[in-house]
Amino acid sequence: MTQVIEKIEEIVNPIPANQMELFPPTRFMGSKRKLLDFIWENVKGFKFNTVLDAFSGSGCVGYMFKTKGKRVFSNDILKYSYNIAKATIENNGVTLDEEDIVTLLGEKVKTDGFIRNTFKDLYFTEDENLLLEQIWHRIPFLSNDYKKALALSSLCRACVKKRPRGIFTYTGHRYDDGRKDIRTSLKQHFLNATDVFNKSIFSNQQDNSTSCGNIFNLQERKFDLIYVDPPYYSTRSDNDYLRRYHFVEGLCSYWKDVEIQHSTKTKKIKKYDTGFDSKTGVYDSFHNLFKMFPNSIFVVSYSSNSLPTKEEMIDILKQYRKTVEIKELDHKYSFGNQNHKIGDNRNDVKEYLFIAK
Ligand SMILES: C[S@@+](CC[C@H](N)C(=O)[O-])C[C@H]1O[C@@H](n2cnc3c(N)ncnc32)[C@H](O)[C@@H]1O
Repeated sequence: MTQVIEKIEEIVNPIPANQMELFPPTRFMGSKRKLLDFIWENVKGFKFNTVLDAFSGSGCVGYMFKTKGKRVFSNDILKYSYNIAKATIENNGVTLDEEDIVTLLGEKVKTDGFIRNTFKDLYFTEDENLLLEQIWHRIPFLSNDYKKALALSSLCRACVKKRPRGIFTYTGHRYDDGRKDIRTSLKQHFLNATDVFNKSIFSNQQDNSTSCGNIFNLQERKFDLIYVDPPYYSTRSDNDYLRRYHFVEGLCSYWKDVEIQHSTKTKKIKKYDTGFDSKTGVYDSFHNLFKMFPNSIFVVSYSSNSLPTKEEMIDILKQYRKTVEIKELDHKYSFGNQNHKIGDNRNDVKEYLFIAK
C-alpha cells in the first residue's frame, strides 16, 4: 500500500525526492533549512496550491514548497533575498553557461572605483573590490533577468562565503580562523557559487513569482497558504538583517537606491522600516499582517525566547482565524545567530509553528 501511495505521489509530483539537497546551503540568520521537514510534515495534509513565503530570507522554505509542486510567491524586503528567490524559485530553467561566465569575468570594463573608494580596507582587498566592480558592471550584458539574478546571487554568495562568519557587522579580519572558505579567492568563490546555483535550477511546472518589498505593501491577496517567518523580536538582542547583510544588500543595487551611513565604521545602509524591530511595533505588525489576508491558512514560525509569547501569539491569531494549532520542536541554532549566542544555553529554544485556519 505504501509503495502504491509513493508511486501516485511520484506521478503527481515528478520532481526528484532529493531536489531540496541541491538548494545552495547558507548560514543566513534564522534560516529554517533544518526545520523544513517539520514544516512540511505539518502542512502537507492541507489542500493548497498557492503559497506565499512572505519573509523569504535564504529562500529555502519557498524552494521546499517549489519541490512539492506548489505555486510559490516569494517576498522579502531585502534585494539580497529577492535575487536568490528570483534565481532559484521563480526561474524554472535558465542557467549561466560558459559564455555567460566569460561575459562576467572576461575583458576588463572601466568602472567607477566606487567599491574600492567606499569600502577601502573594510571587508575585501583592493583587487577583490575591483573584481566586484568589474563583475557588477558586466552583469547587464547578460541576456535575461534570470541570468542576471543568478549572477548577482552568485556575487553576493561569494562575498558572504569569503567573509569570516558571513556577516558585515565588523570590519577587518577579526574572525579569520584560517578556514578554507577564507583562503579561497573571491573569484573562485564566485565560480563555485555560479555552479551551485546552476545545479539548483529546476522546473516545477508552475508560474512561480518573486517580489521585493515590505510585506505590508504587497497588493496580491489571494494565497491558499501563507508562511510567515519574520525577524524574531527579543529585548535581549537585535534582529537587524540589514546590519548583518548591508554590504551584499548594497551590492545588489550598487548602492543606488539606499542611503549609506558614512559616519559608521562599517558604512552600513540606513535601516529599513520593517515593523518587527520594536516591542510595540511587533504586536501591531502581526495584527496588520493577519488582517491583510482574510482567506489564507497561516503557518507562522516563531520561537520561545521572542515576543509575542506563545500565549500572546495564539490570542492574536484567534482574532482572525477559527482554529489555531501549535506544534513545537526543540531547536538549537548552530550559528551565533539572532537571539542565540554560541555557548549560551539560550541557544536551546523551542521553535513554534502556529497553524491558523
Ligand atoms: C527569519 S528571516 C526569514 C528566514 C527564512 N524563512 C529562511 O528560512 O531563510 C526574516 C526575513 O524577513 C525579512 N523582512 C523583515 N521585515 C520585513 C518586512 N516588513 N517585509 C518583508 N520582509 C521582511 C528579512 O529581510 C529576513 O530576510
